[in-house]
Formats: sequence, structure tokens, C-alpha cells
Amino acid sequence: MSERTLCVIKPNAVEANNVGAIIAMLESAGLRVVALRMTRLSAPLVEAFYAEHVGKPFFEGLKQFMVSGRVVAMVLEGDNAIARCREVMGATNPEKAAEGTIRKKFALDMTRNAVHGSDSPASAEREIAFYFDRFSTL
Ligand code: RTP
Ligand code: MG
Repeated sequence: MSERTLCVIKPNAVEANNVGAIIAMLESAGLRVVALRMTRLSAPLVEAFYAEHVGKPFFEGLKQFMVSGRVVAMVLEGDNAIARCREVMGATNPEKAAEGTIRKKFALDMTRNAVHGSDSPASAEREIAFYFDRFSTL
């Protein structure tokens, strides 16, 4: 079943010039980019996006990281896009990420782990609206 997911290339990967390589890996996995945007997040926007994580021990570090540079957000479309995207991303902890995954290749540590991917249809809907509700062509 074709579905959509939100993927974000995080500041460490943008800074390291890995945007093209990461998009190529997602496309090679059968996902199609249907919307794309580079931006910079403010602290309140990070708090809104990661609302479920506010207050957790790692959140302040995550927030500092996510405001530290530009991000690239994209909507990906394809069969089982949510699971497929997370499969290509690899485990949150790069030490546990499988060979051939984005995080194995480009993550620096648990926080600076290169990419974000929606984890459910409800998250995908909310997260796509977070970055792309100002656009009508999607
Ligand atoms: P994401 O949301 O970014 O796709 O990653 P995920 O589902 O694999 O991980 P999640 O549990 O949702 O955590 C969101 C992001 O918070 C940072 N994190 N740091 N230092 C830590 O213990 C820790 N735990 C999580 C990571 O950047 C993670 O991707
Ligand atoms: Mg998550």
C-alpha cells in the first residue's frame, strides 16, 4: 500500500555535505521524494516537533543539536514508506545500526544520528503538516 512519511536530514549530515548521498540511499530503496524543504528550526519549533520527548534526560541535548544548523525535510512516498524509510535509516544508536543503513554510514552518535523518520501513520500526518502545510501542491 502506498503511503507517505516525513524524513528529516539532521544538522550533522547537512553540515557534512551528506544531503545528496542520503537522498540517493532513500531513492534507491524505492522511495520517491514528493516534497522537499531546507530550513532552520528555532527552539520552540523543536519543542513542538519533538513534543513526546520534552522533559526526557536527552531532550536538552537533542534541542541544542537540532537548532545548531540547517535541516532538510522531505515527504517520501512509496509502498510501506514509513517502515521502509526507518529500515534504510537504521537503529537510533549508530553502534547498533546495520551495515548499509544511513545511520551506520553518517551518524556520529545517538544524538547526532543524521536522520529522522516518522514512526506511525499518525506521526507521519502530523509531521508532514509541521513542515509542509503551507504548500498546496503535495
Ligand atoms: P527519530 O525520531 O529521530 O526518527 O529517531 P528514533 O525514532 O529512532 O528515536 P526517538 O526515540 O524517537 O528519539 C528521537 C531522537 O532523539 C535523540 N535521542 N537521543 N542520547 C539519547 O539517549 C537519545 N535518545 C534519543 C536521537 O536524535 C533520536 O533520533
Ligand atoms: Mg522517533
